[in-house]
Amino acid sequence: MANATNQTPAKRLGWIGLGRMGFPMAGRLLKAGHDVSVWNRTRAKAEPLTEYGAKIVDKPADLAGCDVVLTMVSTGKDLKAVCLGPDGLLGGGGKRPAIVVDCSSISLEESAEVRAGLAAQGVAFVCAPVSGNGKCVKAGKLSAVMSGPRGACDQVKGYVEAMAPRGVAYVGEGELARVCKIAHNVMLAVVIENLIEITLLAEKAGVPRAAFLDFMNDSVMGSVFTRYKTNGLVNLDFTTTFTPELLLKDIDLGLDLAKKVKTWMPVTQATRGVVESHFGVATLQADPAAYLEKDFTALIETMALASGMKLVSENTPVPTGLEVPH
Ligand SMILES: NC(=O)c1ccc[n+]([C@@H]2O[C@H](COP(=O)([O-])OP(=O)(O)OC[C@H]3O[C@@H](n4cnc5c(N)ncnc54)[C@H](OP(=O)(O)O)[C@@H]3O)[C@@H](O)[C@H]2O)c1
Repeated sequence: MANATNQTPAKRLGWIGLGRMGFPMAGRLLKAGHDVSVWNRTRAKAEPLTEYGAKIVDKPADLAGCDVVLTMVSTGKDLKAVCLGPDGLLGGGGKRPAIVVDCSSISLEESAEVRAGLAAQGVAFVCAPVSGNGKCVKAGKLSAVMSGPRGACDQVKGYVEAMAPRGVAYVGEGELARVCKIAHNVMLAVVIENLIEITLLAEKAGVPRAAFLDFMNDSVMGSVFTRYKTNGLVNLDFTTTFTPELLLKDIDLGLDLAKKVKTWMPVTQATRGVVESHFGVATLQADPAAYLEKDFTALIETMALASGMKLVSENTPVPTGLEVPH
């Protein structure tokens, strides 16, 4: 049986899920010199990583012989499928990795289910959700929060740090990192909603968005996040980093947890209503489905509509703070 407490650093890494986040994260591991085999449901997305030495496999079970397998998929349901499903990592019987590290944003319950399923086969499970979008990954500005058995976390910390060099915080056993990530994304939703609210307030009162956000970004309220979202809000550039659907999923994870542990979250409740209205307002678009695939900052158009405003791009390129020097 695989031994998760073995102190020898693992050498062969497996990766599942090469979406907007997984692709650059796996890329960082490869560029750091690690031996990484990858699987993605849509194989074509994996091809460019071969340039950095990635070996593409045909199915998740082909990664079962790796020492550590890292995952970055959309939801808890997807994680269960790729780890425990009949066509998943452990579906082939035989070999299994010592440790699975999941970086997706999922609920505590789903995480515990995956942990139990993996534990039944002698595989340790580390939760390592991350803070930052795909551009943050490339700019070396991703951070992570980690929970699970201490020994397993210590063994994989170096890999997580290679992807998230801004910092990796260990917060305890089990699913505690999920709590932190859910809380983090609740703040993300509330901050973007309020940032849009005050930007529209300033604009309707006569201040251009670029000028207002320039002031905000240099103020004590400015952050890495407000800065990298500014260009999109100013120029109505909604190139996707994170979809409204994933944002709503995370708000709901926060509100479900609040119900469970009995915490009052009135501002989060109100924010949920605003984000949900975006899905209704999207039906006014020529192609609602395509519109909802755009970045969640498109919420500014929904909120502008509710304030009787028709926005136009200010055509003022603004640095994001995430530019990677060539
Ligand atoms: N985007 C962000 O800014 C951000 C930041 C921090 C955390 N997160 C979290 O990171 C996770 C991934 O987000 P993302 O933005 O990278 O999403 P994404 O671009 O939609 O990528 C999702 C990945 O999961 C795979 N996948 C989904 N369902 C699957 C299934 N049933 N079986 C196998 N593979 C499946 C997709 O495969 P295909 O390529 O075949 O579709 C793709 O590789 C989410 O939990 C999200 O909440 C996102």
